[in-house]
Amino acid sequence: MPSKTNILKAQLRQKIRLKLQRLTAVQKKNKSLKINRKLCRHRAFKTAVKILFYAALPSEADLKESIRAALKQGRQVYLPSIKPKTHQLEVFRIKNLHKDLRPGPFSIMEPKRYRSRRANAAELDLVIVPGLGFTRLGRRLGRGAGYYDRFLARAHRVKKMGVAYREQICAKIPAAAHDVQMDEIITD
Ligand SMILES: Nc1ncnc2c1ncn2[C@@H]1O[C@H](COP(=O)(O)OP(=O)(O)O)[C@@H](O)[C@H]1O
Ligand SMILES: [Mg+2]
Repeated sequence: MPSKTNILKAQLRQKIRLKLQRLTAVQKKNKSLKINRKLCRHRAFKTAVKILFYAALPSEADLKESIRAALKQGRQVYLPSIKPKTHQLEVFRIKNLHKDLRPGPFSIMEPKRYRSRRANAAELDLVIVPGLGFTRLGRRLGRGAGYYDRFLARAHRVKKMGVAYREQICAKIPAAAHDVQMDEIITD
């Protein structure tokens, strides 16, 4: 039996998906530009050595510009690779956006895992977390597989920054005990 929380989450996911579908490619590009600018100027970004970014789905804010900036500044850049069978998220360092990535499941670009060591969540300084929805106070709604909740479960001291378009910000998001809270939200 699905819990009341899960039913509410599913309804909210549907609502946000519809909002995202209404955004044009140009709107999403401009919004991503603003988000990248805010992210690169953020203190947490400027002071972090090991940063986990994400490679965007077509509906998500595109952080390529921030990734490029981080690489250029000599920071350690990590990207997630998902293991659909076990619903585990693993992260690997990349040094070059073109050479070290390949298309993974769901056509999301993933790090070529043989090229680098796998990092633990706890050793990262900053994790940029994608999501379908966030509240201003840091609650997060993912796509329903719990990848980030599982990955971040033991990353208490790691700064967690949710990134999303304004349209994805919700007044309320139902949460279960396993839902990991974000420290901050960046939006356009
Ligand atoms: N820390 C965890 N340990 C074990 N299972 C987890 C953990 N976090 C999440 N899950 C599982 O993942 C499922 C999806 O989580 P949910 O929060 O609904 O998805 P999402 O965060 O992607 O929106 C949960 O029903 C739960 O069974
Ligand atoms: Mg969750």
